Amino acid sequence: MGIINWREALLPYEQAVDEITAKLISLKREYDVSGRHSPIEQVTGRVKSIASIIEKADKRHIPLDESIFDMLEDIAGIRIICRFVEDIEKVAELLRRRSGVDMTVIQEEDYVTHTKKSGYRSYHITIVYPLFTVKGRQEIKCEIQIRTLAMNFWATIEHSLRYKYDGNMPPELQLRLQNCAEAAFQLDNEMTTIRDEMLQVQRTIKTRDFIVNEIVNNIHNLYFHAGVEQMNQFNMRFAELCQEGSVEKLSDFNKELETMAEIYKVKYV
Ligand code: GTP
Ligand code: MG
Repeated sequence: MGIINWREALLPYEQAVDEITAKLISLKREYDVSGRHSPIEQVTGRVKSIASIIEKADKRHIPLDESIFDMLEDIAGIRIICRFVEDIEKVAELLRRRSGVDMTVIQEEDYVTHTKKSGYRSYHITIVYPLFTVKGRQEIKCEIQIRTLAMNFWATIEHSLRYKYDGNMPPELQLRLQNCAEAAFQLDNEMTTIRDEMLQVQRTIKTRDFIVNEIVNNIHNLYFHAGVEQMNQFNMRFAELCQEGSVEKLSDFNKELETMAEIYKVKYV
């Protein structure tokens, strides 16, 4: 049995966690910039501590040599937090789509619909991530946990208590945690109804922005064709309608401008 050089052995896992985290944060930024709801709320990553690696190897009767790096799939770990349950599947799909490009999905565990006895809920995806180091190409296994804010809240608290009682959690506490898990489940369901409302508002805002842009373009194009008097009227009505904020009325006004533009043959394209 060779002695493990921990510092060196864990280095590629650190690199993998850094790279994957950066890529996922970029995805979130892409959604944010385009004004779409991002299924990714937050991304965190960690490399398993040496103490935890040794403990897990011990539990699984894996010998303490280099082979543990092939046996354990969660030395590199990424956690993706979502606002809504529906976002979890979206994130999972984003990862699957990368298969064969810059990572490969090798396993999926759905504890979202198959809640664990403890009450734990989360979607786990194990990937193989190719890494390019000074030594050449290396493949790193990484466990990605996808869960909502509510699921994460529950798992974080339960994890600390589990650690405190070291596998001997009093049944009464276990029951209370199961009740908390049920409450978190209800919270997620309630939030789903709010999600639809939120997305609707986002769509209305996008439509309004689009129409206002069209109006400005149409007024601009009409400027040298319609009379000064009429242009002043257009500008005043535009200001009034903007203040009023009715998307429907703005849209009607834009149609009027479009007709004018047709007449003067200055239709904006
Ligand atoms: P372990 O990592 O030893 O649990 O082995 P495994 O891969 O067979 O288990 P599983 O896929 O069920 O869980 C992997 C990870 O999910 C764990 O390391 C935890 O981070 C998390 N997890 C699973 N079950 C629970 C649970 O009941 N409570 C909490 N807080 N986390 C859990
Ligand atoms: Mg697992």
